[in-house]
Amino acid sequence: MRVAAPHPDFPTLTVVDHPLVRHKVTLLRDRETSVKTFKELVDEIAMLMAYEATADLAVEPIPVETPLESTTGWAVAGKKLVLVPILRAGLGMVEGILRLVPSARVGHIGLYRDHDTLEPVDYYFKVPGDAESRDFLLLDPMLATGGSAAAAVSSLKRAGANSVRLLCLVAAPEGVRKMADAHPDVHVFTAALDRQLNESGYILPGLGDAGDRLFGTR
Ligand code: PRP
Ligand code: URA
Repeated sequence: MRVAAPHPDFPTLTVVDHPLVRHKVTLLRDRETSVKTFKELVDEIAMLMAYEATADLAVEPIPVETPLESTTGWAVAGKKLVLVPILRAGLGMVEGILRLVPSARVGHIGLYRDHDTLEPVDYYFKVPGDAESRDFLLLDPMLATGGSAAAAVSSLKRAGANSVRLLCLVAAPEGVRKMADAHPDVHVFTAALDRQLNESGYILPGLGDAGDRLFGTR
């Protein structure tokens, strides 16, 4: 099994740079990519990211009967997983990960970024009640200023969560730093670490507005 290492400059960040991920992220960036293809790519990349982000899940030995004999197999053990997409764009990452981990629960955090201040505005929060005994995968394709992700993690922690990882597709250094300052205990997995934010808070080179491209609302 191949496990990506933390970034040398950002110890709380892992860039999942598998060739398939890099290829698919490039298609995602392309302005000519259709809404249908964009959605399929987000789904596929999220699944590949989840493979890396769950590489250290605990397993326990279990007996299994093959058609030929008894042997010992392995079952994922430990805390139950909860996927938490940040609405809207995080929704596009849920189904791909659920195909890998069908027993995961799904919470939701509603947040949008105020266009003028770039500050996150929250409007919805629902996660399983026993948050302290769960592992959370927070999902959002874009980590730009980091305001939305940092606020979402704060909400999860207020609800009792003590194990959170963030999965995004494209991250800006500004957002990675903000997350490391606000939540140094939260490891961030991204498919690409981009150059910078522009004056409107968009990631460069980025892929544009992830929610609009996923749902065709531009
Ligand atoms: C986008 C994206 C993140 C946020 C990232 O959502 O999906 O949630 O921006 O920006 P930040 O790191 O600067 O906070 P947006 O606010 O556009 O909401 P939407 O998904 O509802 O369109
Ligand atoms: N949100 C997006 O959807 N894209 C960006 O580049 C920045 C924030």
